Amino acid sequence: MKIRKAVFPVAGLGTRVLPATKAMPKEMLTIVDRPLIQYVVDEAREAGIEHFIFVTGRNKGVIEDHFDRMFELDESLKSRNKAKEIAELARFQPDAGETSFTRQQAPLGLGHAVWCARELVGNEPFAVVLPDELVLNSPGCLKQMIDIANELGDKSNLVAVEEVPTELTHQYGICGVGERHASRANAFTIDGMVEKPPQGTSPSNLSITGRYILQPEIFKILETQERGAGGEIQLTDGMIKLAKSQKFYGVEFEGERHDCGSKPGFLRANIAYAMQRDDLRDGLRAEMLRYLEK
Ligand code: UTP
Repeated sequence: MKIRKAVFPVAGLGTRVLPATKAMPKEMLTIVDRPLIQYVVDEAREAGIEHFIFVTGRNKGVIEDHFDRMFELDESLKSRNKAKEIAELARFQPDAGETSFTRQQAPLGLGHAVWCARELVGNEPFAVVLPDELVLNSPGCLKQMIDIANELGDKSNLVAVEEVPTELTHQYGICGVGERHASRANAFTIDGMVEKPPQGTSPSNLSITGRYILQPEIFKILETQERGAGGEIQLTDGMIKLAKSQKFYGVEFEGERHDCGSKPGFLRANIAYAMQRDDLRDGLRAEMLRYLEK
């Protein structure tokens, strides 16, 4: 079944990047010249997603505004003949009816945020994309996953995974590695998942990252999900339960992952994304060299 819908949980508090996120959503933090949320919506569109579902919270209205038309701005740009800017705004403007917004009234955890989208997703497989994690690559991480999901057929769940240093596995959701996929060396059946395993007990050093393809049966599980690590309703705990009746696959995606929800990761992402841009690379390099020579 075609994966048509993606859920973007954007209701978190973003405490790691305070005070930036006091009044502004973390997902609107800017990497180079566009907010995080726009990168992940573009990634989802490239992967064939047709409907974009945002689970928002208080103070997040500006995310909805970002995907709306700004009449006054459009008119001003037109009257000043700013064709390049008009084209850029039009490029990411979703068509009417392509977006939905629902609210998570309290940030009870990622699992709870995903559950809030149950009515909008309905009874079909869907993607979950965390906007504070960017993967720099073409094709994007979600496209790589959906291509594999299409080969695997119905009722498979997929998670994007990435190697982390063995001494840090206790900070992540980790999955065990089962059989490798016959034709895709970077995909494997997951043999057990564990959230933040105590040091020395981790089944591998592959951490679960912010891209998932899930079957709708996850919603029934999340409905009764108890609070786990950090007192939050964890998506990983729900997936562990679903893995008892459905297959889970890990995908070691190609691309450089940036954790933009932490200050060092956010700064690194800005440099990495700017260095990809023909219009910015040389200028940035010159500015950095000038600064470092000071
Ligand atoms: P994070 O744990 O990285 O986000 O969740 P956070 O809680 O906002 O950040 P810190 O740890 O306090 O700095 C990953 C994604 O899940 C969303 C967040 O908005 C983020 O995009 N999320 C998290 C929710 O939508 N609801 C929640 O209850 C928790």
